Amino acid sequence: MKAGPETAPWSRLRELAASTGARHLRDLFAADPQRFEHCSARAANLLLDFSRQRIDAGVLSALEALADAVDLRAAISAMRRGEAINTTEKRAVLHVALRQRAGQQLGGAEIERLVLAERARMLEFAASARERFRTVVNIGIGGSDLGPAMATAALTRFTEGAPRMAFVSNVDGCQISDVIATSDPATTLFIVASKTFTTLETQANARAARAWIAGALGEAAVPDHFAAVSVNTAAMNAFGVHPDYRFEMWDWVGGRYSIWSSIGVSLAIAIGAQNFLAFLEGGRDIDEHFAAAPWRENLPALAGLLGIWNVNFLGLPTLAILPYDQRLARFSAYLQQLEMESLGKSVTRDGRAVEWETVPVIWGEPGNNAQHSFFQMLHQGTLRAALDFLLPARSSCGRQDQHDLAIANCLAQAEAFAFGQPLEVAGSVHKVHAGNRPSTILAFDALDPATLGRLIALYEHKVFTQGTIWGINAFDQWGVELGKKLCAQLVPAVTGQGGEAGAAPTGAPAHLAPLLGVLRGWK
Ligand code: F6P
Repeated sequence: MKAGPETAPWSRLRELAASTGARHLRDLFAADPQRFEHCSARAANLLLDFSRQRIDAGVLSALEALADAVDLRAAISAMRRGEAINTTEKRAVLHVALRQRAGQQLGGAEIERLVLAERARMLEFAASARERFRTVVNIGIGGSDLGPAMATAALTRFTEGAPRMAFVSNVDGCQISDVIATSDPATTLFIVASKTFTTLETQANARAARAWIAGALGEAAVPDHFAAVSVNTAAMNAFGVHPDYRFEMWDWVGGRYSIWSSIGVSLAIAIGAQNFLAFLEGGRDIDEHFAAAPWRENLPALAGLLGIWNVNFLGLPTLAILPYDQRLARFSAYLQQLEMESLGKSVTRDGRAVEWETVPVIWGEPGNNAQHSFFQMLHQGTLRAALDFLLPARSSCGRQDQHDLAIANCLAQAEAFAFGQPLEVAGSVHKVHAGNRPSTILAFDALDPATLGRLIALYEHKVFTQGTIWGINAFDQWGVELGKKLCAQLVPAVTGQGGEAGAAPTGAPAHLAPLLGVLRGWK
């Protein structure tokens, strides 16, 4: 299958970039009084308003043709059937199977059986942990941290009666120290979430937690205070995780797609089983929608296609994620891993260097705070960004009067970015807003478990759409390996067990010796 840039619609889109892409959003709105109707789509209680994207009907149909030209529909079916579409690791990609209900047989009957059985075990454990412990600490990093941490914060409103939840990821030890300093070992549960159970950061933090429990309660208490989620049974045995408190995941689930598996156990403890099931159901709504809806109504496909338009045709190198809801404060961090670890590639599936841009830089902050920091640059700076606003209609904390102010702020910003302020209105070159900064508003009724599931699944399938069009494998992450390998070689040198001061320590290149020497001197 050809990548998108090797197909005819790509050439057509190049032409359209020179015509439609050069028009100002003011003109595009003036030309079509029904622009909202023509440039928005609704599904599963989500509204994608892309009327402020620099597109028209011609661009939209060329983007739809692009999806057809790469046979996005067949790619979706291949994923759902469990084909080994993660080609470099020869693995299936079945996060959709994790949110299936009985009878769907996504990935086949055996995978359905495994998923439902493990889900039931995990939810039962979560319910009992909710009762038994006062503090629950998830130790993990990347996909074993960002999803549960982001979602637990997003769904704070649904955590009544839950233990205090904490998330420890950073290797430097500060987070685990803070948790230990404020917790009672007798009422604390640690969950070691690590697909591989070899990740340096997670192992270091888990060892510190284990030492704390063993020191305070005795070695025999360790199995009662640790649960684990991993594919690595031998490592869980070696750590001493109680057989009933360990949960399986599978190599066909990538870390950044794993919140739907037992990696979500901390979220399940925080929000309870019913809410966790509603979260899965929300993801499932979007799975079904993505697999069946025509591209013009297909929210994830549209989000992916519009992203391609912005990156490859309008040359916008970054995408800012701007939630107008404080509870989504970690959403952009979550999407950074999902989008950039998935799509930060420059080689096609069949090993050729790509000659087109792939993923933009994903970044962001809660929108209202960002207005008072970096929005200046977005309005008047030289580097252009595309923007995604996330906008719930209802307050996530019962303060609708204040949330209405957040809605007004979001809409005001979207308008200012689109229409700007010309010199004749501004009165000074310093006050001119050029406008024509494209944005999408992703609106929804309220931030509840099902909606959060829908939002995450929407971005997952957006990534799938873009990976298919760019012709890259969105499911491996070889780019993180070199740094891990070098770190393992450098640890002895940094800890001072690698050689004489002043000499090149074992495992460290000679040019690092002076820097290591200075750092040693300061310790
Ligand atoms: O370093 C990247 C990565 O491999 C991510 O893909 C993954 O989510 C994270 O590390 C954590 O890995 P694990 O769950 O195996 O500890």
